[in-house]
Amino acid sequence: MSILDIGCGRGDVSFLLADMVGIEGSVLGLDLNDNALEVARERASENMLKNVDFVKSDLNALSIDNDQFDAIVGRRVLMYLPDPRRIISELSALLKIGGIMIFQESDSTLSSKSIVPMPLHQHVDKWIWDTVEREGGNTHLGFDLWSLLTQKDLPSKNFVLRL
Ligand SMILES: C[S@@+](CC[C@H](N)C(=O)[O-])C[C@H]1O[C@@H](n2cnc3c(N)ncnc32)[C@H](O)[C@@H]1O
Repeated sequence: MSILDIGCGRGDVSFLLADMVGIEGSVLGLDLNDNALEVARERASENMLKNVDFVKSDLNALSIDNDQFDAIVGRRVLMYLPDPRRIISELSALLKIGGIMIFQESDSTLSSKSIVPMPLHQHVDKWIWDTVEREGGNTHLGFDLWSLLTQKDLPSKNFVLRL
């Protein structure tokens, strides 16, 4: 399979995918952060991985050929995009017919809770979500995923939803 990992960061998800697709498959990781990409490339080189590549790209201004990926994967990235609805629509055009889009996004609504009150834990949890907010992240993207992926104006392609 040929897989696109959007907002790949330092490549953690890309490397999992590279292992899954094997040497006959390929993974392309996209990110706009040069430092993260450099680390990702170093890790690929250290592990002598030939089936994964990392390219600088802003998801808000994609310029990639259509119909080339079997799957598009993203973890905790849509929450940082100003218009994830548009990006998902554009990404769907990059998929081959029958391709798969898989996203994992966080949501503060079901943040970790403890039965016994644990003030320090609650403080830390709040710090984490405050940080996401300060980064400009949408703290409710997790529960928005369904409506994003089932939006009516997606190109009429035969892609499969995996939530
Ligand atoms: C929370 S990190 C997740 C990294 C990786 N997906 C993971 O789970 O390990 C979010 C990543 O999205 C990237 N990102 C945010 N906005 C982006 C954009 N417009 N274009 C490309 N990458 C973007 C950031 O640079 C960052 O590496």
